[in-house]
Amino acid sequence: MPGISGPSDYSQEPPRHPCLQINAKEPFNAEPPRSALVSSYVTPVELFYKRNHGPIPVVDDIERYCVDISGLIETPKKVYMRDVRMLPKYNVTATLQCAGNRRTAMSKTKKVRGVGWDVSAIGNAVWGGAKLADVLELIGIPKLTSSTQSGGKHVEFVSIDKCKEENGGPYKASIPLSQATNPEADVLLAYEMNGEPLNRDHGYPLRVIVPGVIGARSVKWLDSIYIIAKECQGFFMQKDYKMFPPSVDWGNIDWNTRKPQMDFPVQSVICSLEDVQSIKPGKVTISGYAVAGGGRGIERVDVSIDGGKTWMEATRFQKTGVPYVADHISSDKWAWVLFEVTVDIPHSTEIVAKAVDSAANVQPEKVHDIWNLRGILNTSWHRVHVRVGHSNM
Ligand code: MTE
Repeated sequence: MPGISGPSDYSQEPPRHPCLQINAKEPFNAEPPRSALVSSYVTPVELFYKRNHGPIPVVDDIERYCVDISGLIETPKKVYMRDVRMLPKYNVTATLQCAGNRRTAMSKTKKVRGVGWDVSAIGNAVWGGAKLADVLELIGIPKLTSSTQSGGKHVEFVSIDKCKEENGGPYKASIPLSQATNPEADVLLAYEMNGEPLNRDHGYPLRVIVPGVIGARSVKWLDSIYIIAKECQGFFMQKDYKMFPPSVDWGNIDWNTRKPQMDFPVQSVICSLEDVQSIKPGKVTISGYAVAGGGRGIERVDVSIDGGKTWMEATRFQKTGVPYVADHISSDKWAWVLFEVTVDIPHSTEIVAKAVDSAANVQPEKVHDIWNLRGILNTSWHRVHVRVGHSNM
């Protein structure tokens, strides 16, 4: 594609914030300290987790950069940045979460394959861009279409980065056409993050944002879009990011038996305390994030200070001065809520959080019950241990 290229080595990587914890250097995978996530509702770009499968692409001529749209449609078209910018601009506040968030903890039950992540492979940003539904209308696909006349039912996004899982080919993923053409699904071709042009790590100049869905489908550095009959057959849709039962291991896995994961389940994490944290006896404020996929709101966050025997309800909030009500028009439906509760902790204990979404889905208690060989979707109750000391702290 003119104007953008995918390097095959790591000599042109962008600068990154020194406080990120690096989980893999090449490709670059890093997360902020957990405490940074509860410092603000919108995560600053430099502290937003970075999840890559190859070297970061380089744009040398933004004027020539365009997205090629073709496949099962009447008239293929090249869409330039100026075409995307001419469409109505939307700012969508949406939480992006990697399906591998909390993988390290799952690995402690039984080893899993994949980059290790603590609890911060997640962030909340204001994504600015055009709705994919409007872009597809430019090429003659009306809103709310589930099949084109020539049988196109899925929208495939192809990048320009070189990934070893794709044998040096680009990262790709797809979503159903019905979701792509539904303006209410808020799928974006985003060119801004928190009011600034996307930076290189996060997909400059253009990326897809699929709110409420695991981060893997939000393809960065968009190169082409194909309207296809069957979902994308790429590695990251067919041989990764699928949820298997605990009985499946590398000896008996049949990838075809499962669908690619799309929506993420309900999740919550305590961010104000490390595991293990030493504290003085007395009042402690426990805070963290809770989020549900598919646009479902967070109905409740329960916190326990006795390892899950008894529970109290935390307060939930998004924007200052606006009370949070799950699924209400005033709430950001694709975004996390932060939660907080102040408690008295007299002695060493285990603190636990679990969230309930607006469909009454609740996090599973034990990581053991949801163990899967790729270590995805660890949404088990989040636990931190506090050691209460009485002197010299
Ligand atoms: N897009 C491309 N082109 N290459 C990638 O490696 N990683 C995906 C997704 N889009 C990826 C990609 C994954 S697994 C996640 S979780 C998100 O991007 C991470 O986005 P971020 O780095 O902006 O946080």
